[in-house]
Amino acid sequence: MSRKEIRFGIIGLGLMGKEFGSAVARWCHLLDDGPVPVLTGICDMNEASFGWFEDNFPSIEVTTTDYQDILSSDIIDAVYCAVPHNLHEKLYIDIIKSGKHLLGEKPFGIDIEANKRIMDVIQDSPSVIVKCNSEFPYFPGAKRMIDWIEGRNFGRLIEVKCGFNHSSDMDLTKPINWKRIIEINGEYGCMGDLGLHTHHIPLRMGWKPDSVFAELSNISEQRPDGKGGMAECETWDNATLMCRCTDPGNGKSFPMILETKRMSPGDTNTWFIEVYGTGGSARFTTHDPKAFYYLETKGKEQGWTRVDIGPASFLPTITGGIFEFGFSDSFQQMLGAFMHEFKEGGSDHPFPNVSPEETVWSHQIMTAALESHKTGKRVSLV
Ligand SMILES: NC(=O)c1ccc[n+]([C@@H]2O[C@H](COP(=O)([O-])OP(=O)(O)OC[C@H]3O[C@@H](n4cnc5c(N)ncnc54)[C@H](O)[C@@H]3O)[C@@H](O)[C@H]2O)c1
Repeated sequence: MSRKEIRFGIIGLGLMGKEFGSAVARWCHLLDDGPVPVLTGICDMNEASFGWFEDNFPSIEVTTTDYQDILSSDIIDAVYCAVPHNLHEKLYIDIIKSGKHLLGEKPFGIDIEANKRIMDVIQDSPSVIVKCNSEFPYFPGAKRMIDWIEGRNFGRLIEVKCGFNHSSDMDLTKPINWKRIIEINGEYGCMGDLGLHTHHIPLRMGWKPDSVFAELSNISEQRPDGKGGMAECETWDNATLMCRCTDPGNGKSFPMILETKRMSPGDTNTWFIEVYGTGGSARFTTHDPKAFYYLETKGKEQGWTRVDIGPASFLPTITGGIFEFGFSDSFQQMLGAFMHEFKEGGSDHPFPNVSPEETVWSHQIMTAALESHKTGKRVSLV
């Protein structure tokens, strides 16, 4: 039976543009009945990025350095846009106004004002589907955590921690790139790059911070400029946010710690979530991607149980139950959730992608963190 196809254009063929292409190329990996993505158009200012796509995707019909060609094409239905943060506002607004559906990237606007202007256009375009990428909830261990939280296995919440940590900047000889330049990456620094990944599950669970207190650090103040000299590196390397939240299930308040670090020794793209409660606790980290840990609190001694969970994610796949899951799988699962938005009658996916409204919350958290660090005070969000 032929399945509905959604023809995509990618704008921005860098690190993430290629992940998108690869996820589309092996769509047969998913055993799902949702619509199928077809890569129809590609766009980047840098023509050198076209080759890998042209070599691997005979379906491409539009290749361009001008994203307006993607927006004006009547053979493209939707756009995945993965460009530097300073371009989000202009490109996302133009994409939505063109009537193409949009899967955008975080932070979804370089700052809260840009995010607001994107939101205004979304509100005026109800027929356009708009979501933002965040793939870590689609790891099987994160799915298990979501199920565990929704089952309220924690009793009363004691503390929640969620983080996304990197260590590549520990190499002080690594040249500066756009993610370390305020004008292009934004004032949020590491939070703009990594923060939404730590907000997605907590926000979806209803754990919106009531207040934020932040510690931000700029540790690597200069970096090689790639031309033999040194350049000022003004962005925040590390951010620790101490939030106070309210559990909507019982009205009790609890602390939530959100960590985003570029200088975290030993961590390579390590995303984690830990939930501690009076009745039970659970933790998952991509550092140990097969394992889901949980404990039930009974009496004075508690012992962690480790379960090797295999590749069981939201959408079934051809992967055997004993095999492992990785980042590219999580990206494909994330895209699978987006494809469910195109189903007749709307999405039936149990964990839809980040909504535009959730990006607003994410910006409120990060903007409060900047203010908190500047003033040394806790900032209220209610
Ligand atoms: N979800 C994730 O896990 C994840 C990981 C990394 C980056 N990102 C996000 O993805 C986005 C892109 O990041 P990246 O790491 O892929 O960056 P990148 O630098 O690897 O790629 C960006 C690409 O955009 C192109 N570009 C710049 N201006 C353009 C324009 N006007 N028209 C067309 N193309 C243009 C560049 O030439 C480059 O190829 C950012 O928003 C970033 O925060 C998400």
